[in-house]
Amino acid sequence: MSILLLGGSPAAPSSTGRLLEHVGDKLAALGHRHSKLNVRDLPAKALLHADFADLALKRAIEVVAEADAIVIATPIYKASYTGILKAFLDLLPQDGLKDKLVLPLATGGSQSHMLALDYALRPVLQALDARQVFTSIYATSQQLSWSDVSGLTVDQSIAWRVQAGVDALSAALHAQRQQPGEVFVANAQPVRLAR
Ligand SMILES: Cc1cc2nc3c(=O)[nH]c(=O)nc-3n(C[C@H](O)[C@H](O)[C@H](O)COP(=O)(O)O)c2cc1C
Repeated sequence: MSILLLGGSPAAPSSTGRLLEHVGDKLAALGHRHSKLNVRDLPAKALLHADFADLALKRAIEVVAEADAIVIATPIYKASYTGILKAFLDLLPQDGLKDKLVLPLATGGSQSHMLALDYALRPVLQALDARQVFTSIYATSQQLSWSDVSGLTVDQSIAWRVQAGVDALSAALHAQRQQPGEVFVANAQPVRLAR
């Protein structure tokens, strides 16, 4: 089962990108393979012109289609997720997240917009037909610190949220591997989909 780390920050270096890598490392420690796609690396003109003939864009859309699970990460910009992430999501087919598990995460300058993932991004993920969207992870800049020597340090309050998100995604992937026709709900009996 493959996991895509989808980064939606236009910045580099990026706090969001670092938190996304951190989640990727935790998933790898549980034995999950992952690949990475940063929207900022896509050709800007093709992205903004929705040029489906562009090979890099085509491949990026395929990479999303091939993933079983997506960890989608964005900084909060103007009380929402970033414009470049929306530009990319707009290029996916209407059911572009069908059958996929999605773990959303964001970094923001303050707690003020900690619900942005839930009021802005989550409806888009649902509209794209995600199978299950996990509880969002939100960290402020003050809760993350970076050193070139020791890498990312995450406040304890965020560390347990990250671990909970990683564990939930990992458990759902394992359950899906065993029972492909069922939705995994943590601490509950799986629900068989009428498909
Ligand atoms: C254009 C812009 C708009 C921003 N708007 C918000 C905002 O509305 N709410 C907030 O909490 N932080 C806001 N921030 C702060 C970023 O969300 C925060 O610094 C984030 O960690 C940056 O992540 P990055 O390093 O991956 O770009 C904004 C930053 C920028 C550059």
